[in-house]
Amino acid sequence: MGRIRVLPDQVANQIAAGEVVDRPASVVKELLENALDAGAMRIRIEVEAGGRKLIRISDDGCGMNRDDALLAFERHATSKLHTADDLLSIATLGFRGEALPSIASVARVTLETATGDDPAGTRVEIAGGKILHVDDAALSRGTTLAVSDLFFNTPARRKFLRAESTELAHVTALVTHYALAHPEKHFELISATHTVVSAPPVARTAERIYQIFGKDTLAQLLPVAAETPLARAGIPEPPPWKKDPDEPARDPGSLRLTGFYSKPELQKLNRNSIYIFVNKRLIRDRLLLHAITEAYRNVIPPTSFPVVLLFLEMPPEEVDVNVHPAKTEVRFRQSTLIHDFVRDSLRTALIQARPAAGFLAALGNAPAASPSLIPAATSALPGSPDSDPEGLESVGADAERFQPSPHLPPAIPVRLPFDPVSMNRGGWFDQQAWGDAAAALFHPPGEALQDGCGANLAEGAVFQEAARAAAQVEAEQSDTTLNHLGSLRPMGQLRDSFILATGDDGLWIIDQHVAHERILFEKILRDRQVEQVQRQRLLMPLLVELKASQMVIFARIAEELERNGFEVEPFGPQTLAVKAAPVGLEGAALERMLAEVIDQSSGDSQEPEHNEDLMALRTRIAASIACHSAIKVNTALDPVRMEWLLLELAKTSHPTSCPHGRPIALLYSWKEIQRAFHRI
Ligand SMILES: Nc1ncnc2c1ncn2[C@@H]1O[C@H](COP(=O)(O)OP(=O)(O)OP(=O)(O)O)[C@@H](O)[C@H]1O
Ligand SMILES: [Mg+2]
Repeated sequence: MGRIRVLPDQVANQIAAGEVVDRPASVVKELLENALDAGAMRIRIEVEAGGRKLIRISDDGCGMNRDDALLAFERHATSKLHTADDLLSIATLGFRGEALPSIASVARVTLETATGDDPAGTRVEIAGGKILHVDDAALSRGTTLAVSDLFFNTPARRKFLRAESTELAHVTALVTHYALAHPEKHFELISATHTVVSAPPVARTAERIYQIFGKDTLAQLLPVAAETPLARAGIPEPPPWKKDPDEPARDPGSLRLTGFYSKPELQKLNRNSIYIFVNKRLIRDRLLLHAITEAYRNVIPPTSFPVVLLFLEMPPEEVDVNVHPAKTEVRFRQSTLIHDFVRDSLRTALIQARPAAGFLAALGNAPAASPSLIPAATSALPGSPDSDPEGLESVGADAERFQPSPHLPPAIPVRLPFDPVSMNRGGWFDQQAWGDAAAALFHPPGEALQDGCGANLAEGAVFQEAARAAAQVEAEQSDTTLNHLGSLRPMGQLRDSFILATGDDGLWIIDQHVAHERILFEKILRDRQVEQVQRQRLLMPLLVELKASQMVIFARIAEELERNGFEVEPFGPQTLAVKAAPVGLEGAALERMLAEVIDQSSGDSQEPEHNEDLMALRTRIAASIACHSAIKVNTALDPVRMEWLLLELAKTSHPTSCPHGRPIALLYSWKEIQRAFHRI
């Protein structure tokens, strides 16, 4: 007798459950998606014990009749897909017909559903995949699914569940994300007796951000919207060999991007505050993360990340969602096009907005490691009475921790150096503080400390005061731009290092070195494009000693250096003779610049022939030349030079920050000044 057997349904379902259900948040995700697919306008989620004990989701969607209610728990039973061709253009969040049977195989489930058209609704009870009862019930239109005792029959899996507070954090993050993608719908998340998320319908995403994260977060973000027609469809339909030549060509549709991005002065130490939605599905995608990082290249430091909420809309045929069981990853049919569209739209928005950084806001915006945007409503909660005295339970988790591996480090209890509840409620700075707490919850202690923002926060009252003031000011001056830089009146310098200038907006303080650095950086890149970086011949060649390993790196980047105005020849086995260099770069600065570029290039694994690496090398060289030839601090400038500097800065694409991401110009706004003098 053969050894191979077809697995019983219950076993197959549990295997599928292993892929899609690994914690309460993944159950919530599947049930929420079902409710959204059913056209619900109001969705209420109740959880107990972080969802370990109970998850109940009620919606007012289309509901199911009795036959469908039973069929829904069969494996591969779905109303969302009929033929294999449908797989090529999925417009619903679900399509695999696996979620309900998987969940029902590892929990006790009660389904109550009614279509509103049938005389009675249906109530189905299932435990561990076995149907226990099916009854008629008087119900109004919609569906309620209650999932209790998750993993009651799979103790090994139950062991991987984390503390209630951690599980609730994941559920909260998830509901928050879906609420962001659907501002027109009503979302409520209730944990035991308190409301964690309450988001009644609003007209715009901005209002939803306000509802969920508070006004200070909204003030830190700028809107972006872009659209581009697709030149061709990702999958031509019908395929060319079936095409009727007389049929008019199908419109391939367009790519649309809306969303919000952070001002350059707001920087995070990880990607956890970047949310990407494709056709309202929250996804993780390296390609789009890369596009976002590229948009911010040389605007924020390479080690920092922005806050971005990105909603991409495209014809369903353009994106393959059938690549990951939990449907959190997708594949784009025209991936380069989408990557470039996202990068260019964000970059253009940044260039156009040119947001001015407030003086106090910049003080409080040192790169922070907060893991995500934290719902304002939750940060004001005192925490669950029994399990979580610090109130950390309501901290949101990030998108990447959506489906965390069971190998996550155990939760580490954190004591905050201040009383979070007494801080400015719902403000951005509370949120960072809460975020830090959450970061510590999910990361080993060493890692959390390294992030360094704990130290910032621990500085205590002064910092908190500044932060609070900054949050307020920030909210007021969110629309101040750097467009008027050119018309500012320079008054003088502070310690020969910072230019003080006045304008209608208030008092500006401009860092002369980084301002000049930005001007030179953009000029070098422009000149480099037309191969005209201005060079100067040195009176005497400069001899530079290198180590053998540095000589190898030099050989790799020599050509690019030459295009940037250098003329360098080997002079002995470990010596270079620099005969010409870009204008403004001489002596020790020239030597330091060369050493810097060579050292920075030592991490590059490949020859810089790949387009990406070449771009990175090019901007690195330009940034280094700019930095070493820019006006130094402690240099006296006459009024003409100061004016020239401001005028030239005004012409740059990114007058907000130097190529290394440091702020260039800070504004003490007129309002801020008036407030400080108690005039308003
Ligand atoms: N809240 C709901 N309201 C109305 N119908 C629902 C609801 N939840 C599930 N259904 C029906 O039950 C079917 C099975 O749901 P299930 O989540 O198992 O599969 P799916 O959503 O089709 O695909 P996936 O496994 O990718 O989620 C759905 O196709 C849908 O017809
Ligand atoms: Mg589903």
